[in-house]
Amino acid sequence: MAELRFPAGFTWGVATSAYQIEGAVAEHGRGPSIWDTFSHTPGRTANGDHGDVACDHYHRYAEDVALMADLGVSGYRFSVAWPRIQPTGRGAPDQRGLDFYARLVDALLRRGIEPCLTLYHWDLPQPLEDAGGWLSRDTAERFAEYAGIVAGALGDRVRLWVTQNEPVVTAFYGYGLGIHAPGRTLLLDVFPVVHHLLTSHGLAVQAMRPRLRPDAVTGIAHSLGLGRPAGRSAADAAAARALTAMQVHLYTDPAFGGGYPREVLEVLPAAGQQVIRDGDAALAALGHDFLGINYYAPQYARAPSPGNPLPFDLAEPPPELPRSGMGLAVDPSGLTELLLHLADRYGPALPPAYITENGTPGHDLRGPDGGVRDPDRITYLEGHLAALRAAMDRGVDVRGYYCWSLLDNFEWTFGYDMRFGLVYVDFGSQRRIRKTSYRWYSDLIARQPVR
Ligand code: FCB
Repeated sequence: MAELRFPAGFTWGVATSAYQIEGAVAEHGRGPSIWDTFSHTPGRTANGDHGDVACDHYHRYAEDVALMADLGVSGYRFSVAWPRIQPTGRGAPDQRGLDFYARLVDALLRRGIEPCLTLYHWDLPQPLEDAGGWLSRDTAERFAEYAGIVAGALGDRVRLWVTQNEPVVTAFYGYGLGIHAPGRTLLLDVFPVVHHLLTSHGLAVQAMRPRLRPDAVTGIAHSLGLGRPAGRSAADAAAARALTAMQVHLYTDPAFGGGYPREVLEVLPAAGQQVIRDGDAALAALGHDFLGINYYAPQYARAPSPGNPLPFDLAEPPPELPRSGMGLAVDPSGLTELLLHLADRYGPALPPAYITENGTPGHDLRGPDGGVRDPDRITYLEGHLAALRAAMDRGVDVRGYYCWSLLDNFEWTFGYDMRFGLVYVDFGSQRRIRKTSYRWYSDLIARQPVR
């Protein structure tokens, strides 16, 4: 493969999230989140795994920052646990929670690593879920209050702010299908969740703006991937377009294209759409200085089977595509296609993008010498970086790349079985072991033009 070269100033990063790595779930006043409740409910996660200890990052953050500094990254995307800041989701903040993130941010800045702070990576305070969760507009209002508090504490030092991580996953996995916390199964009645998540972004930006440094930028990290037709028929092509509308445009049009896509609203029950208030379209369009893109795999669709209220069935990827540990199809060209599609659809309204997550899982094991070899991960990352570079060569403005993830961690319903890290974590001893992909990424970064 040709040498990968990116522009000077491009951000080379790694990403994590609070519940997946921190542990210390009852420390310093942290309240319970929906993921504590969900992961402790029998049958919800592989092996009954939960985030009580996870990577113990809350206590080992200094070691983890040192690992990043050695890796040579210039950026680190992490999330703040709302229940550490407001244990019940409302009211006065707990200073101890804010202090933890201030220590982390200061440690990063001392090492020349720019923090990219995500405010919500799925760990909703349980009391807010008990009061209706994201089905209730009040949760969006509470989120704005929380965002204002964090901005007040860190807005002088943090430039890059992600409000929501993957609204599509919160809505459809959390409230639609019940695969993620809070485990509700509302199927297509999840539109209020989508709407409140997108509205919460605008409300949060309004609350944060006066407290942020002037060069601060805000955005959402969306899970995006275009639908691909499973077969050659026109009906499969239409199904693929409908999947793209439901998974991509439903989230990006309100930010860059002026409102929800009509073809999606037409298939969602009208009752749920009554939550839309005057002025919400303007709120949802506010504060998109960048677009965060989490990209993992292409998705396939075929014409809907009888009785399916959706305009598509999800389909298996073609057998010739390699699969990752989680059964996801591996095809880097999906990333190029996605970026070109967004640039084409939104034109000058599309802000600069960051790849806020990209990576691949495996059942990585330690070899006889104690080392961890993960050649498939290197192939995956190399292919996706080349695909990203190809889109940039065709004019798409992408400013950085955050590999998911720095550490093996709590992979939600897959628990600790599915390892995404550049660094292997021995969860018994909490020892960190650099995989071969860590060394590969480090060498790649070192060969890039000086920042
Ligand atoms: C994304 C999530 C992240 C991690 C990766 C593998 O959907 O944002 O927390 O689980 O997938």
